[in-house]
Amino acid sequence: MDVLAICGSPRKNMTTHSVLKAVLEGTGRSSEILWPAFMKIGYCVGCLKCKNETPGKCWQDDDMTMAIEKMFEAKALVIASPTYFGNVPGPLKNFFDRSIPTNYSGKGEKWEGAHDHGTRPFKDRPAVMLCVSGGADHEHTADNIRRVLAYYEYSITGEFSEAMAGAVITKEDFTDIYNELFELGKSLDKAIR
Ligand SMILES: Cc1cc2nc3c(=O)[nH]c(=O)nc-3n(C[C@H](O)[C@H](O)[C@H](O)COP(=O)(O)O)c2cc1C
Repeated sequence: MDVLAICGSPRKNMTTHSVLKAVLEGTGRSSEILWPAFMKIGYCVGCLKCKNETPGKCWQDDDMTMAIEKMFEAKALVIASPTYFGNVPGPLKNFFDRSIPTNYSGKGEKWEGAHDHGTRPFKDRPAVMLCVSGGADHEHTADNIRRVLAYYEYSITGEFSEAMAGAVITKEDFTDIYNELFELGKSLDKAIR
């Protein structure tokens, strides 16, 4: 699998998924979509045992164990999310929070900031972010996703952030938007090479 996608929507084949599919088609690469809403993921309790007691591992052995392995394996990442009150839906936020053990896995270069935030296993890995809303506030959602990607030092190669009014994107019905998304996928493919 070259491209790992995280779909923050709990609705398959609706707006977010349709936008994501167009990007993945554009990459022309093997890909896999993880759906936090359909995974068993306990919430981060902030204990930092993943830092101080069992570096790189959370005491909760749930679907995040598999998800983190896939994050390491993938050559690129795509995050796709709807807007829920100007933010990502709860399951995606939960996914982000539970990804914190990757910092303490010992993989990658040491973090250069002032505090001890471990290493940066995903530094310079290409990523695309996709945020949709019904009518507004998708930019707030985008800010939040950008922050997570910046923290991990992914290299954002493309963004799509739009009010979609519930549209489900297909090549036939929304050709211009589909092509724009397909191009984001193509540039992600180039960034992997
Ligand atoms: C709980 C909830 C909160 C939402 N909050 C916002 C919002 O703040 N701004 C907005 O424009 N749309 C909001 N929406 C609309 C969704 O972002 C929009 O319908 C989106 O297309 C849903 O993605 P999906 O089709 O992939 O499920 C909200 C929807 C839900 C269910």
